[in-house]
Amino acid sequence: MRTVYVNGEYLPENEAKVSIFDRGFLMADGVYEVTSVLDGKLIDFDGHAVRLNRSLDELDMVGPVTKDELLAIHRELVTRNSIVEGMIYLQITRGAPEDRDFAFPDPETTPSTIVLFTQNKPGLANNPVALKGIKVISIEDIRWGRRDIKTVQLLYPSMGKMMAKAAGADDAWLVEDGFVTEGTSNNAYIVKNGKIITRERSNDILHGITRAAVLRFAQEAQMEVEERNFTIEEAKAADEAFITSASTFVMPVVEIDGVQLGDGLPGKVAPRLREIYLEESRKVAV
Ligand code: PDD
Repeated sequence: MRTVYVNGEYLPENEAKVSIFDRGFLMADGVYEVTSVLDGKLIDFDGHAVRLNRSLDELDMVGPVTKDELLAIHRELVTRNSIVEGMIYLQITRGAPEDRDFAFPDPETTPSTIVLFTQNKPGLANNPVALKGIKVISIEDIRWGRRDIKTVQLLYPSMGKMMAKAAGADDAWLVEDGFVTEGTSNNAYIVKNGKIITRERSNDILHGITRAAVLRFAQEAQMEVEERNFTIEEAKAADEAFITSASTFVMPVVEIDGVQLGDGLPGKVAPRLREIYLEESRKVAV
């Protein structure tokens, strides 16, 4: 049985409880982070901690722990659950006031709720799916306008994954005004004539921690990167495509809406980036 962390306590997962009045439960009033673990170490912890603080600030929420405490909790959970490869999920909500009310409660009297748990995923780095790539469909992006904040409002992304599954695909790319924003739970990229193209950062997409690292590594490896909008039509005509996230790292996309990219196998750029990303981030993991 897993040991999880809830509001200052390490508990067996079946003893960990959150109030039914918690605003995360009633109103999706909460933020989260997913940090991957490789070799028992945290990948890009710093990036996730910085983005978490930004999400909290943007929503006027007060974080319950310092960055150092957060690191200690992550490490403790990795140790207690013997995680070698996997993920740590963290969620902070605006807490549990006495009643349901749309107005935010006073943080002095209603402390935020913090929950962390591990997900054991042996084989995460050597995921065989990366060798053949994934298929995506495109769906309309009907999410709210602050996708840069990592909130727990994940109903539409969940629906997107179900639509993909129903269509025999692995995931969905979200499209707004003809342009791809991002994947349901990842950032989206295409490659044309060796150039890596991905949407620029704005309130329209989550500023991926993996995205930042991958673009940096790509530039260091003298690959050309262009941050601009691209249409779903342009994507279907691309040489390659891929996604990035903390749980998939770099994952080739070989089909979009039933249209095969290139010869239908991962190309050169995405697998190379995956290799560089895994190698470089392992070196600096904590
Ligand atoms: N998802 N875009 C969206 C909408 C996401 O939900 C995520 C992450 C990303 C990639 O961000 P990062 O590289 O920092 O993981 C982009 C996480 C993994 C999840 O919901 O499980």
